[in-house]
Amino acid sequence: MALKLVSMSFQSQEVPCFGLPAMASFGSPRFFMTSTVPSANMKVENLRKKFMPHLKVQDQITHSMPPQKIEIFKSLDNWVENNILIHLKPVEKSWEPQDFLPDPTSDGFNEQVEELRERAKEIPDDYFVVLVGDMITEEALPTYQTMLNTLDGVRDETGASPTPWAIWTRAWTAEENRHGDLLNKYLYLSGRVDMRQIEKTIQYLIGSGMDMKAENNPYLAYIYTSFQERATFISHKNTAKIAKGHENIELARLCGFIAADEKRHETAYTKIVEKLFEIDPDETARAFADMMRKNITMPAQFMYDGQDENLFNHFSTVAQRLGVYTTKDYTDILEFLVDQWKVKELTGLSAGGRKAQEFVCQLPQRLRKLEVRAQLRAKEAPNVKFSWIYDRKLKL
Ligand SMILES: [Fe+2]
Ligand SMILES: [Fe+2]
Repeated sequence: MALKLVSMSFQSQEVPCFGLPAMASFGSPRFFMTSTVPSANMKVENLRKKFMPHLKVQDQITHSMPPQKIEIFKSLDNWVENNILIHLKPVEKSWEPQDFLPDPTSDGFNEQVEELRERAKEIPDDYFVVLVGDMITEEALPTYQTMLNTLDGVRDETGASPTPWAIWTRAWTAEENRHGDLLNKYLYLSGRVDMRQIEKTIQYLIGSGMDMKAENNPYLAYIYTSFQERATFISHKNTAKIAKGHENIELARLCGFIAADEKRHETAYTKIVEKLFEIDPDETARAFADMMRKNITMPAQFMYDGQDENLFNHFSTVAQRLGVYTTKDYTDILEFLVDQWKVKELTGLSAGGRKAQEFVCQLPQRLRKLEVRAQLRAKEAPNVKFSWIYDRKLKL
């Protein structure tokens, strides 16, 4: 049964350039339960002020997947073992952050750090703001592992569960952990950014969590993760490209290696959804449409540094201007997934399934029109200061 619970959401009414405007809600009928106890609400309000002052309480839906569907995920155990775990890299063959950083035990450590800092001086502030935002997003990894472990039928029930789904989630987390770690250490050594402000932002972000609107439902969640892994692949690939343009080959290399991980993860998650389309096309088509109607919001949407209540929007506007991640990318990803999952070719759907199919297939065309507006908005944007670069101002 689906429950509607108290949740936190971003206070700003601005539309972030990463997420596109919300449309009418969609999906099968659900049952809601809303908290009505005033003292409980006051308690939440007080906690909110202390730990997540930029958030307000809204509604959230939980457990929307019919219980009988859990069996589908259990029946896929062998398939996950043979088809998904192969997309993980054995630890012994993985790169580690230390492979890209000066070795603190070597005699040449100080010189290597000095060289890294000299090369970092050639890169403009706006690039660093985007790299910091990307790093903070990666550093909120505890939230993402938590999210995956809210999912009915696939969660890691014990923290060391031997099911292939749980093995995937833990090993995926372990691979992802290297991303934030590497970017964090690089940024620390670069001497270009205010690490304390960045660390505060990470603390706030993990405290705030995220609202991916997956409703404990793996159909919805794996569509979200497919989208997100491709989004992070594009984003890290572009930070690599720009670093190369500034002739910073070491930075380009490390961003490129992170992008390659994201690509592997994208392959795994899109394969899961492909399988769901194969065995349960109706539910999967409706889940795809549902997620797209709700928007794929970025995992770091609740970003806050203790000062700027629109920090995420400001960061994403700079990313849009630099071409690291844009509204065009959002639509391109959607188009890619529609093709990848052969949504146009699906047959034998129910009326609801056909409606969902039609919606996702037509959506890219509608979103293209909004891209122009987002670009114009980026051109008109004012100067904004970022605490991550010692309150220096950037044109958005
Ligand atoms: Fe990552
Ligand atoms: Fe990833």
